[in-house]
Parts: sequence; C-alpha cells; structure tokens
Amino acid sequence: MTALSRQKLTQTRETSHDIYDVERIREDFPILGQKVNGKPLVYLDNAATSQKPQAVIDVIKTYYATENSNIHRGVHTLSERATRAYESARSEVKRFINAQEDREIIFVRGSTEGINLVANSYGRKFIQSGDEIIISWMEHHSNIVPWQLLCEEKDAVLRVVPINDDGELMLNEYEKLLSTRTKLVSIAHVSNALGSINPVKTIVEMAHSRGIPVLIDGAQAAPHMPVDVTEMDCDFYVFSGHKLYGPTGIGILYGKAHLLEDMPPYQGGGDMIKSVTFEKTLYNVVPYKFEAGTPNIAGAIGLGTAIHYVNSIGLERINAYERELLSYATEAISEIKGIRIIGTAKEKAGILSFILEGVHAHDVGTVLDHEGIALRTGHHCAQPVMQRFGVPATARASLGLYNTREEIDALVRALYKVIEVFR
Ligand code: ALA
Repeated sequence: MTALSRQKLTQTRETSHDIYDVERIREDFPILGQKVNGKPLVYLDNAATSQKPQAVIDVIKTYYATENSNIHRGVHTLSERATRAYESARSEVKRFINAQEDREIIFVRGSTEGINLVANSYGRKFIQSGDEIIISWMEHHSNIVPWQLLCEEKDAVLRVVPINDDGELMLNEYEKLLSTRTKLVSIAHVSNALGSINPVKTIVEMAHSRGIPVLIDGAQAAPHMPVDVTEMDCDFYVFSGHKLYGPTGIGILYGKAHLLEDMPPYQGGGDMIKSVTFEKTLYNVVPYKFEAGTPNIAGAIGLGTAIHYVNSIGLERINAYERELLSYATEAISEIKGIRIIGTAKEKAGILSFILEGVHAHDVGTVLDHEGIALRTGHHCAQPVMQRFGVPATARASLGLYNTREEIDALVRALYKVIEVFR
C-alpha cells in the first residue's frame, strides 16, 4: 500500500462525521483557529474561495514527499503510483457528480477554463455566423466573456435572459429567446453575486426539447448541494476545486462522452496525442485529448481528497445546515436599519449580498476586516448584476460548511460598528 492510499484510509476513519457537529468540523480547518487584526477570524468569503481541511493539506504534502512523478509517461513505480492517484481522483469526481464514465471528467484549472474550453472547442466547431448563444443576466464574467469572444470571431449573437427584481431568472423570457438560431445555452447553477439557485433541470429540458445543448456553470453550486449531471441531463457542467475545499488551479469540465468525442482539442502538446509527424498528428482519446501538458497532478489528488472529505459529512446535510444558517443570517441582517439585501430569490444558496445606505461597500469591508471578518466587496465579477440593481458594488457574505450562528452574530455586531463609524 502506498503512503497516499494509507493516508486516505486513516482519514476516512478520522474524519467521519456522524452528526453535524460544526465545532468538530471547524477543527479540521487549521486556518480558522487564528486571529486577524486581534479578533477571531470570521471567514465569510467562501464564494471567492473556501478554506482547506487538514486532510487536503496533508495529501498534497504526502504526494510531493513520497510519490511526485509525471503521469501517463513512465514505466517506473513512482510514475505508476502518481498515475493511479490522479486517475482515481477522476473516478472520485465521476461518482461525486454521478457522471456515466470516467472519460467524461476533464481536469482543467477551474470553472473559467472549463467554459473557455467549451467555447474554443465546441464553439469554434459548431457555432456559425448568425447563430445565437443564450446566457443570463446573472452570469459571472467567466460565463459572459468567453461567449462574447466566440461571437465576435464567428459573427454570432449573444442573447441574455433577464432577471426579476428578486434576482430570479425569468423563465418566460428564456422561452421566448429559444429559437432555431439558438445553438447553445450556458447558465449558472447558482449566482455568485445573488445566491439565486436556477431551475437547471427545467432550463435543460426547455433547451433539449429544441435540440439545444446546455452548459451549467456549477462553481457556486457543487460545494453546497448534491449535483447529479445524469439526472440534470446537462451536456456540460463545470466547477472549481478551490471552492469545494480543495486546492486552487484545479477544476472540472464534465461533458457527455459523445459531445467530447466530436470536439477538437483545446490545446496542443504532450499527452493529448496518439502520434505526431510533421505531416499529421493523431489525437489521444477523451479525456486525454483535452489535457495537454503536465496537468496539476497534486491539485487533482487534493480535489479527490476534498470530495472525500465533503462526502464524509454529506452534501445533503451540508445543504440543510447552510440553508438554516442563511435564513438566520438573512433575518439578522435585515433587522439592521439601512441595509438592502440584493438577491431575494425564493431558492437561494448561502450568499448574502447587501448594501448599507450611505456607506460604500469597500468601506464596509475595511471596517469589517478590522473586526476580523473576511467578506468580499465589489462587483463580484458580475458587473451586469450590479447594473441591473443600480448599485456600484455590494458587500457579500458567503457561507461554507464551517460557519456558525456566532459568526453571523459577530458580523451583525460589526455592521453596527460600521454604522457608528460612518454616521
Ligand atoms: N468567482 C469568485 C467570487 O464570486 C471569485 O468571488
């Protein structure tokens, strides 16, 4: 047994969480124990990136200390071990999102790269002049700009589904936009700026009834709710490792096998080829066709362990816990005079964007930081959302599986301090 697999076995025993004991869960995250600006850290910036459990930190260290080697290339023992660990992370991801086959899982840098891969490969091959691509008003820039670039190149048209005043997608408008010109739909599962959860199954069904493929951007969903790509029937799904308690620089593009088979490579280089001559190159099979160059091996292994960790608690339970915490936070924050919550969809994930009357979001963030509270302020890489709600920026508290009611109370106390300072 290798050091890596031994470690995984031990971790399964040590980190199994039979009940949702948030204090016990917090102990798994070494960073949470520290003080920032003399105050206990309250980390509420999980939509930007999540913290890492000890198991993830350890597995990366063990990989580099005992098994580091390049994959798919060597016959030597270390290379075979690294290859096995990397490929078993792929299987872990496949089970996590209930894909049909390992080869439907492509390792990429993150959600952004996943979307760019589809735009550059599927898009370049199948989108023609006059075709339309549908996105929504609540997209992150990473689900806007790659399509704009493609539309510019192909003389195609980007169509945008509007959202209502609660930040919910207007399905009747979506229906109207779907036409014979529509060649792809790409929509967020959960909005990073508003928290709205989109009815992805319905979105997919509506597109599929017209033969249109759908990409779902799951960056803000995969860490917070069970994702089943088979049930959802989406054609592509992307998410990032670092928001799922895994390392940065690793993410997933899921694609239905027959679509991936039909798509040209995204990048050229080592590992994505079967044979190369100056006259002609034959490409490797899926998924390797899309993984040119030495990949982020440690990142993939770290992501596999993060998934293992999340599974040890259970996404259903994480989801129930975070929903309860969100309603506690929403109620507590709404009571503060001068607060306006941006994003009041009926179905919401643990994201609470708000503005405080008369105070710029950056000033809110600065005062909160003095109180040890970390949250994101700004446009959240979703400028159209800010324009839609007529605000330049918001402060955004975003929850993770380790946040507590006490931390929400600390946030509320700190917001009263902001009011004191600026009034
Ligand atoms: N997309 C990340 C966020 O919403 C970075 O903060």
